[in-house]
Amino acid sequence: MTLWAVLTSFKGRINRLDYWIKGAIPLGFVVLAPVVVLTIFGHDDAALVVFGALALAALWPMLAVTVKRLHDRDHPGWHLALQLFPVFGQAFAIWLIADVGFLKGTYGRNRFGDDPSGAFADVVLEVSPDALITVGGLTKYFALTRGVLVSHELGQVHAVDDVSLEVKRGETLGLVGETGCGKSTLARVVTRLIEPTSGRIVFDGKDITAWSRRQLRPLRRDMQIILQDPYSALNPRRPVGAIIGEPLRIHKLGSKKERRARVREVMEFVGLNPEHYNRFPYEFSGGQRQRIGVARAIVTKPKLILADEPVSALDVSIQAQVLNLLEDLRDEMGLTLLFIAHDLSVVRHVSDRIAVMYLGKIVELAPPETLCSHPKHPYSGALLSAVPVATADAEEARSRRIILHGDPPSPVEPPSGCRFHTRCPKAQPLCSEVEPPLAAKGLPEQFAACHFPLTEEEIERAILRPRES
Ligand SMILES: Nc1ncnc2c1ncn2[C@@H]1O[C@H](COP(=O)(O)OP(=O)(O)OP(=O)(O)O)[C@@H](O)[C@H]1O
Ligand code: SF4
Ligand SMILES: [Mg+2]
Repeated sequence: MTLWAVLTSFKGRINRLDYWIKGAIPLGFVVLAPVVVLTIFGHDDAALVVFGALALAALWPMLAVTVKRLHDRDHPGWHLALQLFPVFGQAFAIWLIADVGFLKGTYGRNRFGDDPSGAFADVVLEVSPDALITVGGLTKYFALTRGVLVSHELGQVHAVDDVSLEVKRGETLGLVGETGCGKSTLARVVTRLIEPTSGRIVFDGKDITAWSRRQLRPLRRDMQIILQDPYSALNPRRPVGAIIGEPLRIHKLGSKKERRARVREVMEFVGLNPEHYNRFPYEFSGGQRQRIGVARAIVTKPKLILADEPVSALDVSIQAQVLNLLEDLRDEMGLTLLFIAHDLSVVRHVSDRIAVMYLGKIVELAPPETLCSHPKHPYSGALLSAVPVATADAEEARSRRIILHGDPPSPVEPPSGCRFHTRCPKAQPLCSEVEPPLAAKGLPEQFAACHFPLTEEEIERAILRPRES
């Protein structure tokens, strides 16, 4: 019997004691049944569920009085709505208590997102004055859940695990690694586009780890993103002028006329014809569309641009144009760039430093010349030996390439110790037992997370240099 049936049977006597007694029976059933079920199934934080149940129990009579008053107006529309409302209300109450309370109590997260309190991890950060972004112990786990009404957590995707790094002002930091290693997730967590599971983030001298969405909003104009696919990133029904000017409109920057002028200025800056202000994205080529994406990213004069594989969807000839454009922008606007790519040959030409990622961890960090001529981590060596170079002897090239065997392990259950040990040609028993820290190795400004870094001889074998002519 629904609560509504109880209410209507006591119409007119809503303030009387018997209403409350008879109303309390189904009410108690609705709110307490999930508690009993969850307790039987071994829920280890019943306090949260009980709290939710009590809150609903307190609210329900108030709702009942409102429902009764509305019903007394006798409008035909109310009858259907009021009959349905308590039924949905009861279903919602059960779901709320079971799902939200259960998951939050057990895992510190629920389907509304992670518990931001996790972000206040006890990480001590040293922030240098020339750093635009500093992160410490940054971690992002995605919960793998099953179920619609009541979710069960099956595991966690360790997308980014305990990453600490800094990006200096005016620097281009290249982030490279194979697909699924966590590059995009790291970039999004760093800028709080998604919530970290733990760790600390300092942007432009401000610790933004625990900032609310509202606090972050003004900061968003200082962090813009260029997406990988210029075809899906642009709204096909809006003219490019409106697309490029959208961040100005969102952040309420300038009058309509000023915004228009700024958009035209930026279009010219990135090599688009300002006369094409009212054209639609389908009227542009792939390279031009990526310029539209770049124009939209720089229109608010941000401090940081996240370029998430900005050229991987483009032809090689057009890739070079867009890369040159990004370099020009960096020089002229003093931008800081986090440049993501899975191809080392792309990042090496635009980056001041390169971070190599493997399965959620930074495994090597070094300037491009150092990384490309003296890699210390075997994974960097493998990435590098996969970069095609002009050499006289193709057979020799093949024989010297480091081939990684096996698929990348699952990020749900990453290997113990060094995550690369299941595929590393140099792995030894220690590698699966002790996780190597990211520490200074080799040349200045070079850091690698490896117990047995590549030797000069191995580097020589792994890397094929172009033939000297
Ligand atoms: N919203 C999500 N929910 C669950 N898992 C996710 C989510 N987003 C990413 N992942 C997982 O996190 C891991 C890292 O994903 P991410 O997109 O960061 O990788 P990537 O290095 O950018 O890959 P790519 O080069 O293909 O873009 C992957 O295993 C991915 O499946
Ligand atoms: S720690 Fe061991 S397994 Fe990991 S990269 Fe170094 S040698 Fe290979
Ligand atoms: Mg990605």
